[in-house]
Amino acid sequence: MNIAIIGTGNVGGALATNWSKKGHNINLGVQDVNNFKGQDLLKNENTRVYSIRDAVEKSEVILIATPPTAIFNILEQMGDVSGKTIIDATNAVMKSPEPYKTVYHALVDKTNTEVVKCFNTTGYENMLNPIYNGEAIDMFMAGDSEKAKAIALQLSTDAGFGSCIDFGKSDKVELLEKFALSWINLAIMQGHGRNMAFKVVRR
Ligand SMILES: NC(=O)c1ccc[n+]([C@@H]2O[C@H](COP(=O)([O-])OP(=O)(O)OC[C@H]3O[C@@H](n4cnc5c(N)ncnc54)[C@H](OP(=O)(O)O)[C@@H]3O)[C@@H](O)[C@H]2O)c1
Repeated sequence: MNIAIIGTGNVGGALATNWSKKGHNINLGVQDVNNFKGQDLLKNENTRVYSIRDAVEKSEVILIATPPTAIFNILEQMGDVSGKTIIDATNAVMKSPEPYKTVYHALVDKTNTEVVKCFNTTGYENMLNPIYNGEAIDMFMAGDSEKAKAIALQLSTDAGFGSCIDFGKSDKVELLEKFALSWINLAIMQGHGRNMAFKVVRR
């Protein structure tokens, strides 16, 4: 796939790295092509840097991994996104993109395309390496677009996650952000450290 990465920091960088290893074409979409976080990503295979508009134009999938409030600025620069899939990996932990509760809701309202919430529920270290004691941890997704969910599932597998469990439709997007907060609570506030993760087990 041709994937635009908007937000080339911790999360965008980890996913861009693993997806490039799987042979995807990575188009970093940045504000300043000469000065952006994650410049070392250009050492990865199949990875190039563009303006946000050009990265989006060259891609069928767009990952948003920026502070949530940046979404309005990004929407102005993305250009035509019809027919493309947008993956929202943000968490409105500190500040929501008002008047919307989440970036997912802003994207659904402001674009006419496929949107999914995914890659927001665990720390970026787990996105770079989702393997614990030889077993892959799980990813989670939510939203109304089945097409976007199928792409998120494929990209979750390509990033090394065991499964991408469907949390439900758009009414579960905020719950998925609360689930991310649960990870943040355990890892940081309760002091378990960032090398911990969730896995669904069944019998
Ligand atoms: N850190 C985690 O473990 C984690 C886990 C799950 C979800 N998340 C969520 O993922 C998002 C990113 O977190 P992060 O830790 O990866 O952040 P980060 O390392 O600080 O990176 C943020 C990125 O956003 C870019 N950015 C900021 N404003 C922008 C704008 N207006 N247009 C385009 N790009 C812009 C920055 O670009 P410049 O370098 O050009 O400023 C930078 O590349 C947040 O919403 C966070 O809640 C984080």
